[in-house]
Amino acid sequence: MKLLGVGGSAREVGVSGRLLDACLGVAEKGGWETVKYLVAGRDIAGCRGCLACEKTGRCVLSGDEAWRFYEEVVPGTDAVLMVSPVYFMGVPWSLKRLVDRAQVLYSRRVRGGRYPERGFSALILVSGTAERGSLAGPRRVLRSFLRELGYPCEYEGWLDAYEARPEALPERVAGLSEDFGRFLGRKMGAGG
Ligand SMILES: Cc1cc2nc3c(=O)[nH]c(=O)nc-3n(C[C@H](O)[C@H](O)[C@H](O)COP(=O)(O)O)c2cc1C
Repeated sequence: MKLLGVGGSAREVGVSGRLLDACLGVAEKGGWETVKYLVAGRDIAGCRGCLACEKTGRCVLSGDEAWRFYEEVVPGTDAVLMVSPVYFMGVPWSLKRLVDRAQVLYSRRVRGGRYPERGFSALILVSGTAERGSLAGPRRVLRSFLRELGYPCEYEGWLDAYEARPEALPERVAGLSEDFGRFLGRKMGAGG
């Protein structure tokens, strides 16, 4: 079973990246093959809004990094773990570029009438504050993105306000990743 871990932060090394690594480590111990994909530093072109995909079912930017993600990285994946920070009540621009390019998937679904069914997903958000309201936007965006990819979200986690207690971060990262591992274990037990 293959798990794709997507990191949404604009920086390669941060709290969400650390959490992603811990979760992938736990998954590997549970027998999963893992692939990590960080959006940071990648040359992902933003959607131009031309809506050509509505007519043709294809994106005019085909061949770039977002296209590679959809055509080469995702296929063959049984589950997706998305770990992303909250930026201004939303998702980082780095990740939003990738998300917006899923408009071509939306267009194909609307034409074909069905979501793809590829597997399941998990979403873990990281925020500097403990303000639950700041999760509403990222949750809607990323759950909808994961659904469009063909991996409905079945697990959610949240690492909040870590700056207030930095000394507790290692323990909290370990606790969240172990909880995610238990979720994966239940999915495996239930036949995936
Ligand atoms: C541009 C920007 C906007 C942010 N907006 C919010 C926010 O609206 N709410 C919040 O709780 N934290 C916010 N934060 C804090 C981040 O969620 C937090 O620092 C997170 O750890 C960043 O992830 P990273 O360490 O993986 O890069 C923001 C951080 C940045 C850089």
